[in-house]
Amino acid sequence: MEPLLSPSILSADFAHLEKDIRAAEKGGADYFHLDIMDGIFVPNITYGPIIAETMNRITKLPLDAHLMVANPRKYIPDFIDAGVEILYPHIEADYDVFRTVQLINDLGGKAGITLNPGTPVEWVEPLIDVIESVLIMSVCPGFGGQKFIASTTPKLTKLRSLLDELKPSVRIAIDGGVKKSNIAELYRAGADFFIAGSAVFKADDITAATQDLKNELED
Ligand code: DX5
Ligand code: ZN
Repeated sequence: MEPLLSPSILSADFAHLEKDIRAAEKGGADYFHLDIMDGIFVPNITYGPIIAETMNRITKLPLDAHLMVANPRKYIPDFIDAGVEILYPHIEADYDVFRTVQLINDLGGKAGITLNPGTPVEWVEPLIDVIESVLIMSVCPGFGGQKFIASTTPKLTKLRSLLDELKPSVRIAIDGGVKKSNIAELYRAGADFFIAGSAVFKADDITAATQDLKNELED
């Protein structure tokens, strides 16, 4: 599967959002990642559908939204209306996650499911027919710039072989602490959709940092 890079605007400078987006586009970004936090599921608050809609006016690249919210079904229609392509609710957030994923599909979105570092990969099995991707968290969600949790790497390999058995078309996204020094190893371990916040937007040269990550994914 062609590897894709989705810079997370959580680490962008919102005073110069368009400038930061242009720089990442120039470096070869494939998507942009929106970290949606409600202050309940995670101890931080970010932004909502208005920023998704704004991003859609700034860039033609597709958007993916990571829904770190306790009640994803309440907000999914608004994010789809705002033009978000992939929606990643958390499997831990809601007692009725099958219904959440079905709602995304019914509204024409692409459904992914997110697993926290402490959640076993087998949890995705009952959802396999209704999802297109699995997002593996490699930090505890809530903040950018955290340290990559090492036990995530073998988890990717385990999930890849499970998916190859059940539904090979399902992508694996990885989010948290992804940088130039580990992205190639994560690709080899089984991830194919890479989310990087600080490694892109906290760099002095956003375009060069984006290119560096993409280059690591070549061949
Ligand atoms: C954390 C978010 C991440 C975050 C990644 O809760 O889900 O998307 O932006 O930031 P870095 O790449 O700096 O770990
Ligand atoms: Zn995220």
